[in-house]
Amino acid sequence: MGMKQIIYLLGIALMPCLSSAQGPAQDPNMGIIPAPVMIKHTTGKFKLGVTAFIKADKSAASEVKWLTTWLEHNGYKVRMGDAASSLIELTTSGTDGLPEEGYRLTIGEGKLVIAGKGAGLFYGIQTLLQLMADKKDIPCAYIEDYPRLAYRGMLLDVGRHFFTVDAVKAFLDRMAAYKLNRFQWHLTDNEGWRIEIKKYPKLTQVGAYRMQGEVAWNRDWPDSVTYGGYYTQDQIREVVRYAADRHIVVIPEIEMPSHSGAALRAYPSMKCPLDTSAKMDWAFDILYCPTEETFQFLEDVLTEVIALFPSKYIHIGGDEAEKTPWARSAFCQDLIHKKGLKDEKGLQSYFIQRIEKFLLTKGRNIIGWDEILEGGLAPNATVMSWRGEEGGIAAAQQHHQVIMSPSTNGMYLDYAQSRNDKEPVNIGGYTPLQQTYDYDPMPASLTKEQQQYILGVQGNVWTEFIGTPAKIEYMTLPRMYALSEMSWSPLSRKDLVDFSQVRAPRHLARLDAAGVNYRVPAAIGVADSTVTLHGASFHFALQSPLPGAKIYYTLNDKEPGDTDWEYVSPLDIVVPRGETRVLRTIVITPGGRRSVPTRTVLVNTKE
Ligand code: ACM
Repeated sequence: MGMKQIIYLLGIALMPCLSSAQGPAQDPNMGIIPAPVMIKHTTGKFKLGVTAFIKADKSAASEVKWLTTWLEHNGYKVRMGDAASSLIELTTSGTDGLPEEGYRLTIGEGKLVIAGKGAGLFYGIQTLLQLMADKKDIPCAYIEDYPRLAYRGMLLDVGRHFFTVDAVKAFLDRMAAYKLNRFQWHLTDNEGWRIEIKKYPKLTQVGAYRMQGEVAWNRDWPDSVTYGGYYTQDQIREVVRYAADRHIVVIPEIEMPSHSGAALRAYPSMKCPLDTSAKMDWAFDILYCPTEETFQFLEDVLTEVIALFPSKYIHIGGDEAEKTPWARSAFCQDLIHKKGLKDEKGLQSYFIQRIEKFLLTKGRNIIGWDEILEGGLAPNATVMSWRGEEGGIAAAQQHHQVIMSPSTNGMYLDYAQSRNDKEPVNIGGYTPLQQTYDYDPMPASLTKEQQQYILGVQGNVWTEFIGTPAKIEYMTLPRMYALSEMSWSPLSRKDLVDFSQVRAPRHLARLDAAGVNYRVPAAIGVADSTVTLHGASFHFALQSPLPGAKIYYTLNDKEPGDTDWEYVSPLDIVVPRGETRVLRTIVITPGGRRSVPTRTVLVNTKE
């Protein structure tokens, strides 16, 4: 690291201090995530007494219920009707000119008005709940707000590890609070089939459980102890309803033609006949053979799926199909020949197009991972671009709808959040908070007209290395906040410093107080790095990454704890010429959670 980087490092260190005071000077965005489109600050404060009065249009009934529940849960008394103070008014009028999902929030001294329709009113309430979360008076302001992107999604993989209905609901609650509106439920994979299908009971009797301890290359469960679980159709309906109450559409994903090992454990006759000379037995075990039996099965399954999920879109996977079994199958080669297809990629395209045709007869459209471009896109398919942006760009150029979810650009929330080996075990990769925050899903290489095919973005929580709700929380908080802001707020309102040093810390402090797990950021102003200087002391002005958290440090190259020096004022560390010192820091929160420790090597050069 040269002088320029040092100045950069110090620059970060000298950012404005955290303050709990609200107001335009210290906190222009009033702590709100995602940053609203427009905030006009006015004078005065809205005081909320012990009793909140709610006045509402009839059309706002479900939102009134929502707000009342929250207020009562948080210790307020609620009365319906007019009042001279502490009045919260919900209305569906006064929304002219507002885009879909938009709202207007007018905070006056005695009266606070949220105007919006449907999701808009709901999102106005979410903003209000954030403003009320610290139980302080709310500065008066006028807010106008609506999303940049229509599709703001999160995926949860319940195939690799199973998560209960309650865990899924908690995931949906967090999405809704941050104005995310699409939940892709990855219900089937090699390790588990999680949705009850009445016509094929073995899918869950056999496919929902595994005996082996290993998922991907993660051995996290004892062999010989069954692991698994599934959702009954009643539970699925319950989750879909729960999501809809929060203006979230649940998009089920039923994987095909590969990632289908669980279904094929239950019904092995749908595999291609095993070529015993083949080295890649695993590919035979997870790939459907495109026989009439398979298509009948998939149509039956999808018929039950459609009855449970009102979503216009059904995700049919399509990713990572290793096609060796098709290349070695006389049946598949004959089918390729009969249908005039070019090769196995053509066969995949035939497979997907046949499923698309079936779903179109039921009034549904398919979404598939970007591999469905191979061999030619199905005519109405929406492409989810994950191996980078290229698939999404190609699809938009062909006038197909696109959801950007590139693993290369911060959308894989199972990737490591730092390069530090103290991160909990994970699948690898490297997706720090900033990468998620900085991603812009509108590729500059597309024309304005082509960009209209980009519906939005999605963050994916794959769970090969995530077995518990606490770890879902660790991996998504705070990166889900970044996803929220980059998908909702206009580019001109994005501000990494205000987001990561002012607003996100306050949201994390609330999680800390509530006992929710999350990733504690490192102290602001220090990072795993080597800093090289010649003839000067090393200056560190650090900042706590959340209110109330303490920073501890060591200079003996041992991991710090709460028995070490507490950081109270800027450090000047003198390193003799030609020598090296190591500064290590850790953050410990009021709730006792610890950051990953940082290690900074300070080198004072000889010459
Ligand atoms: C994927 O990560 N295979 C979509």
